[in-house]
Amino acid sequence: MCGIVGAIAERDVWPVLLSGLERLEYRGYDSAGMAILNGSQRLNRIRKKGKVSELAAFLKKENLPGHTGIAHTRWATHGAPAEHNAHPLMSPNADIAVVHNGIIENHIELHEALVKAGYVFDSQTDSEIIVHLLHQQLAHTSDLLKAVIAVTQQLKGAFAIGIVHALHPHRLIAVRQGCPLVIGLGKDENFIASDQLALLPLTQQFIHLEDGDIVDLRLREYTIYDKHHSVVDRSIHRSTLLADETTKGHYRHYMEKEIHEQPAALTQLLEGRLGDTQILSEVFGNQAEHIFPRVERVQIVACGTSYHAGMVARYWLESLANIPCQVEVASEFRYRKTVTQPNTLFVTLSQSGETADTLAALRSIKNSGYLASLAICNVPESALVRESDLVLMMRAGPEIGVASTKAFSAQLTSLLMLTTVLSRNHYGKQNPQEAHCVKLLRTLPTQVSHVLSLNNPIKQLAEFFVDKHHALFLGRGIHYPIALEGALKLKEISYIHAEAYPAGELKHGPLALVDEDMPVVTVAPNDALLGKLKSNLQEVQARGGKLIVFADETVRLSSSNGSTMLLSIAVPKVDEIIAPIIYTIPLQLLAYHVAVLKGTDVDQPRNLAKSVTVE
Ligand code: M6R
Repeated sequence: MCGIVGAIAERDVWPVLLSGLERLEYRGYDSAGMAILNGSQRLNRIRKKGKVSELAAFLKKENLPGHTGIAHTRWATHGAPAEHNAHPLMSPNADIAVVHNGIIENHIELHEALVKAGYVFDSQTDSEIIVHLLHQQLAHTSDLLKAVIAVTQQLKGAFAIGIVHALHPHRLIAVRQGCPLVIGLGKDENFIASDQLALLPLTQQFIHLEDGDIVDLRLREYTIYDKHHSVVDRSIHRSTLLADETTKGHYRHYMEKEIHEQPAALTQLLEGRLGDTQILSEVFGNQAEHIFPRVERVQIVACGTSYHAGMVARYWLESLANIPCQVEVASEFRYRKTVTQPNTLFVTLSQSGETADTLAALRSIKNSGYLASLAICNVPESALVRESDLVLMMRAGPEIGVASTKAFSAQLTSLLMLTTVLSRNHYGKQNPQEAHCVKLLRTLPTQVSHVLSLNNPIKQLAEFFVDKHHALFLGRGIHYPIALEGALKLKEISYIHAEAYPAGELKHGPLALVDEDMPVVTVAPNDALLGKLKSNLQEVQARGGKLIVFADETVRLSSSNGSTMLLSIAVPKVDEIIAPIIYTIPLQLLAYHVAVLKGTDVDQPRNLAKSVTVE
């Protein structure tokens, strides 16, 4: 999604803005730009369609001096990816520049009124109205802050905005309403950004603005106004993230690094959270000890990969904790009339904690009779974390690749912890199953390391997919969502059309697609459904389908029509409770190697954004 960086300093700010934009590239975007206020009260702007590197190449040749500036990466929503739609957008007399994340929902009415008032639009964006509205307000007042307040009162929707004005050097005004925005505090310089990762090389001191906040930022000071326009104090957080935590290290791609980081991420997630035979329930928050014993049902809401994690949790919660569980994608849940059963825990899953639909779903259930809300999230300062009653931080470290990998295994691990804690409601505190799960969780990082050693055989296997246009993924029971996740990974980064089905559904339709050009990828752990799964695989082979099976090392598979029709990779044997986490890894590796061979943009696949902060 779009990214904002802004800076006021005693040095030229373009290098700071450029490096901030580079650090936001992972979020996904299709054009970039910056506007800098130079000493002679002039705003200079450059905008480029495509990558930030285009901007960098220009800046290497042309000097863009100045101590105050704003910059932006745009992910197109209104208007195609094009230079004239890129931000910053400027007023007709080039004295105001604005960057905007989010969507202005009432932009059509505002656009019509501005056209009637004589304004001419240069772009197809919803954002350009902001700059014209400001220009209109400034005809009546010279007070920039008052003008900004008057404009934001007219805007409906979710937005984060940064504004600079040619007549107000060393001043930057920013607004947060529904989209993330932080202030970064430096020594004799201050910054804004839509994500603190953009500013980590500059400062570790951050203020996370709240909805309705407006900040008037200067070189050595700042004033924050809340939604009632009263001056407000917001606490300063010291980030523990280091700037180099967000580099690729010796890996070729962030996704590759994040796949291989999983043992360390899970170790970090579990550290200090496991007792000898029990999970420490207070890790979910102070109130957890009072709330959890009352939980009779669970409703999980999430999007994309996080939704798949929720689907796995349903199998665990119902089979291990005897707790009924429903799972729904947030974009559906938020617009549906739902019935709340008594004592239902509402669980949101999100890597970023800023996904618009998940956040809206959480907000929609306030006063709906849920027992409490629990967020399982990877970003401590996110809106989801701040607005939930209980929180389990995933501690997976920053995930930069658009394709979620370590966040998924961390979500699954967190959900297994939740299941285990909630199983006490049915089995009591001293149940042997909890002790067994704690033991499994302790060994999990090592088991993940073992399965990562399949990297080379999977790399070879990936060659088979390079000329394929479609793939089917199959799983049964708790491994059906793992198949869904495997298909999502392959399609989002390699652009191969991939669909996942519960293997038992094959003959109800998808079997018609099976021929020698349709690889059928299957996860086959040695569990109670293996016999059934083997029959489904026979159905594929009988139709000439090519099977690629990730099977437990103890499972024997036979090819009915020639060994080339069956490629199988032996996965180390693990307890079936943690098998979904283990079988996720080979599917991540497969998607990664196929994408590398196909030469796609692995970390920033086309059309996608890392955090989807608009509907
Ligand atoms: O930050 P979230 O977990 O809320 O994000 C949800 C989805 O947008 C995300 O998982 C998406 O599906 C990933 N690109 C999948 O790899």
